Formats: sequence, C-alpha cells, structure tokens
Amino acid sequence: MSPKRASLIVGFVSVTLVVYVYLFITWQLQYVELTRKKRQDFYNLMSWQSRNLTDFIQPDHRTCVICPKVPDVCRDGREANTTIFFVTTSPTNREKRDVIRSTWAQKANPKPFFVTGHIPDSKTMNLLEEEARLYNDIVVEDFVDTYVNLTLKTGFMFKNFLSICPKAKYMMKCDDDVMVNPNVVEALVAKVAGPNKPLIGRLFVSPEPFRDIHSKYYIPYWLYDKPLFPPYLSGPGYLVPGESVQKILEESFKEPLINLEDVFFTGIIAMEKLNMTLQNSKRFFTYYSMQMGKCAVQKAALLHHLEDKEMLDLWNEIWNGKLNCSSKHQGFRSVLSGIGIPPFFLRKNSLDLE
Ligand SMILES: *[C@@H]1O[C@H](CO)[C@@H](O)[C@H](O)[C@H]1NC(C)=O
Ligand SMILES: *[C@@H]1O[C@H](CO)[C@@H](O)[C@H](O)[C@H]1NC(C)=O
Ligand SMILES: *[C@@H]1O[C@H](CO)[C@@H](O)[C@H](O)[C@H]1NC(C)=O
Ligand SMILES: *[C@@H]1O[C@H](CO)[C@@H](O)[C@H](O)[C@H]1NC(C)=O
Ligand SMILES: *[C@@H]1O[C@H](CO)[C@@H](O)[C@H](O)[C@H]1NC(C)=O
Repeated sequence: MSPKRASLIVGFVSVTLVVYVYLFITWQLQYVELTRKKRQDFYNLMSWQSRNLTDFIQPDHRTCVICPKVPDVCRDGREANTTIFFVTTSPTNREKRDVIRSTWAQKANPKPFFVTGHIPDSKTMNLLEEEARLYNDIVVEDFVDTYVNLTLKTGFMFKNFLSICPKAKYMMKCDDDVMVNPNVVEALVAKVAGPNKPLIGRLFVSPEPFRDIHSKYYIPYWLYDKPLFPPYLSGPGYLVPGESVQKILEESFKEPLINLEDVFFTGIIAMEKLNMTLQNSKRFFTYYSMQMGKCAVQKAALLHHLEDKEMLDLWNEIWNGKLNCSSKHQGFRSVLSGIGIPPFFLRKNSLDLE
C-alpha cells in the first residue's frame, strides 16, 4: 500500500471517529438534559408542594373559574338513567373539542362537558373563555394544566360531577382523543342495576409500573414503590357509577396522590381502598387499529386513540348508513370463514362482542 493511500485511510477513519464521538456526546447531553427536566417536573408537582388532593380540590369551596350551567335533564329527575360525559382537554385543544362537538357529542344527552385547567398564555385563555360562553360546555378549574397534573384534572372532574349532576346513573371519564359511541354506552349502562354497581372499562390486571423516565407513563419509586400496580381501568375512558363518585373523591383525600390518574382513582382508591368492583368490557378499545374492521368499531363504546380527521371520517361512515355490516358484507374475513379458515390475524376481541 502506498503511504499516500495509507494516510488517506487513517485520515478518513479519524474523521469518522471524531464525528461519531461528537454525535454521541451531544446525544448523551440532550438525554441528560431531558432527564433533568422531567425529574424537575415531578419535584415541582409532588415534593415541593403537596401530595394532598384536598389542597388543590378544596371540597368545601366553589373553585371553578368558568362553570357551565346545569343541564335541564339534571334538574327534573330524568337523570336517574343518564350518563354524564366529561372529557379531559387542555386549553389549546380547540380543534379536538370541535371535532367531538360535531361527532359523538351529537348523540349524547346531556352534551359532554370539557374539563381543563389554565396555562400562562392569556391569548389562549381569552379564546377559551369566548368558546366557553359560546357552547356552555367547558369547566375551567384553578390549576396549572400539564400532563403530570392529570390526576388533579380527574379529581376536579369528580367534584364537578357532584355539583352538576350528582344523581346521574354513571359518569364517564374520557380523553379528548377518543371517540365514544353514546348509544353503546347507554346500552351497557342500562344492563346495570341495583346497589354496588361496578366501574366499567378496559381492565388491566396488575401491570408493572413504568420505570423508564422517558415513558409517558413513568412513575418514580418515591411516588409508588410496590412492584405491581393493583388492577385498574385504562385511562382513556372509563365509567364510574354516580353513587360512587363522592365516596371515591372523599377517599382520595386520604391517600397521597400520584401522577397516573387511572391507577390512582380506579385502582388504588376504588378497588383497593373501597373494595369496589372493576368490570372489564370488551367494548372499550383503548387501543385502536383498522385491523379490527369498521364493523367491529361500530359496536365499540370507546376507541382510543384517533387523530381529528380520522375521527370525523369514521364517525361519518358509521352514522350516514354507508357501512353495510350484514354478515355477507364483512369482506375478507367472511370469505375466509366461509371456506373454514379462522381469521387468526384479526383480534378476537373486536368481533366477539356479546
Ligand atoms: C330508569 O330505567 C328503569 C329500567 O329501565 C326504569 O324502571 C325507570 O323507571 C327509569 N327511571 C327513570 C327516571 O326514567
Ligand atoms: C400542578 O398544578 C398546581 C396547582 O395549580 C401547580 O402549583 C403546579 O405547579 C402544577 N404542577 C406542574 C408540574 O405543572
Ligand atoms: C390531607 O389533608 C386532610 C385535611 O387536613 C387530612 O384529613 C388528610 O388525611 C390528608 N391526606 C393526606 C394524604 O395526607
Ligand atoms: C369485597 O367485596 C366482595 C364482593 O363485592 C365481598 O365478597 C368481600 O367480602 C368484600 N371485602 C371486604 C373486605 O369488604
Ligand atoms: C347489505 O348487504 C346485504 C347482503 O348483501 C343486503 O341484503 C342488504 O340489502 C345490504 N344493506 C344495505 C343497507 O345496503
């Protein structure tokens, strides 16, 4: 090998190495910075302040900054068979709220309420106030709206249920990226009677807590140190019996709060502390995939998670009668089962709805 060629190779290798080391170090630094920010968030929320929900919710005071009117259904005794929908949203999510208003909210009576906190941006907050006047369906509560504060939002939702429609049969908690089918929910709820009604949703049985700080569902040991969570209902949407709302809220004041609202309210408080029943329903699709087929989707009480346009399209298709779900029209699946091959690639859950 000529010396010229050798030095060319050495030069190339060292440049590659330097670039590699540079990239590696910047990546590491970013990672450390992200981790530091995330830790800071948790300290802000949980350790410098309080883990006592009472301090935020203030059960003996009216705290809502914007409070919607009580709907007629809740004044005249008709609420006994009604479900009240509450949707967690954030001040900036106007578009998501509009998609919900023009889709599934149309089938709900009373119309769903949106629950949110405030953000340090007066322009957004002014727009939100206008929107609230226009639709009278927004509850703004007095807390800083961030993802780690979601447990506060759900706590305020319980509180508002008690001031808006305490005698309703069920309260449904949902996020603003889910599509609900109020007719299916109504049918589910109609089947429940008597005392000790269950909470209903997608049941997770004792999963391990997420310990990776970059996970959306991260929870540090100092907030929850057991190896497993109790069984709980998945957060995008679940039903709580109206008669249990006050009990759950009161019990939650005795327990130091954690950032995962579903684990906290349905698992730790309702199931562990109050011995309430959590009922799994196959109709809660807390994951979503077109694989399940649109005809299965039609029978779902809840679908998570959908982009705005996806929700609009799907809703229009389901309600404008274009979808033909008679058995001959289920496409490939029915072709396969017609010749005796089980459609194993489809999720069984989605099609076996009782
Ligand atoms: C609620 O539904 C039950 C069972 O369908 C019925 O007996 C009852 O009268 C209904 N209550 C009201 C207030 O509509
Ligand atoms: C959560 O909300 C409380 C009450 O408004 C606020 O003091 C706190 O800073 C918020 N925490 C985070 C991490 O946003
Ligand atoms: C929160 O404060 C209330 C009222 O001071 C108290 O009764 C409750 O036990 C406290 N909860 C926790 C988790 O410390
Ligand atoms: C919890 O509830 C179940 C049935 O709902 C009942 O059999 C059991 O005795 C209850 N346990 C406690 C400790 O109350
Ligand atoms: C759906 O398909 C079935 C079977 O082909 C047909 O009999 C029925 O008329 C169709 N319904 C609609 C609304 O198109």
